[in-house]
Amino acid sequence: MITKCLFPAAGYGTRFLPATKAMPKEMLPIVNKPLIQYGVQEALDAGCHTMSIVTGRGKRSIEDHFDISYELEHQIQGTDKESQLEEIRSIIKKCTFSYTRQNEMKGLGHAILTGETLIGKEAFAVILADDLCFNPNGKSVLAQMMDIYQKYQCSIIAIEEVDFEEVDKYGIMQGEEIEEGIYRVFDMIEKPNKDQAPSNLAIIGRYILTPDIFDILRVTKPGKKGEIQITDALLQQAKMGKVIAYKFKGKRYDCGSIGGFIKATNDFYQSLYS
Ligand code: G1P
Repeated sequence: MITKCLFPAAGYGTRFLPATKAMPKEMLPIVNKPLIQYGVQEALDAGCHTMSIVTGRGKRSIEDHFDISYELEHQIQGTDKESQLEEIRSIIKKCTFSYTRQNEMKGLGHAILTGETLIGKEAFAVILADDLCFNPNGKSVLAQMMDIYQKYQCSIIAIEEVDFEEVDKYGIMQGEEIEEGIYRVFDMIEKPNKDQAPSNLAIIGRYILTPDIFDILRVTKPGKKGEIQITDALLQQAKMGKVIAYKFKGKRYDCGSIGGFIKATNDFYQSLYS
């Protein structure tokens, strides 16, 4: 049973400057909820109750968001505004939040290794909050991955097909399809050029990782962009046949890009208010 979900949330969000100058990118709202709240809700829906968040300087508003604001509670008590806090109140009640800081920006693999202190020796989920996933007619993407984990008991990555022009934005995998939409991974490469890419199956920001990943990350050398890449660490597990890729059901919005963020905003607005 996986109960912990790690949120790497220390990045600068440079693509959204100046909005992210003094505000974490994870707090940018899609309609009226910050991105990270959608991620926490997805983790909760998948059975995780401990949210382990790797933050950095300037990210304190994330902690405040997942805490009770007594002044605000007092102000709106008994008014019709109370209903707008119901969802976040229920999240706060159901989850425990723990935080640690990544004080050097050495890549996603390094961020995940920084979270080891919050995770310990158990399998855990990872959500990159700027990949916003939505599956209105069924289980959330992380919940679907939990089912796959129950069966295969190894690391699970979520994948989707992307245009070959876009492969240099993602970790790209190659594997053997063992069930419809489920692959045993044997190769992975972080952000390859179009002509180096072994496929157009891109890793998106949802992972289930077994705890041996920490030992692997400790000895993983800096890769693409001089950073410690989770893709390189996963490749070591893949070589032992211990990584399954899953073509999830649902939709993903790349809210780390302005175009994806606007698309998510429009779609969520449509589905919530029309
Ligand atoms: C990270 C990973 C990459 C993955 C992507 C999904 O890249 O390194 O393998 O495909 O997330 O969003 P980033 O987008 O942080 O550069």
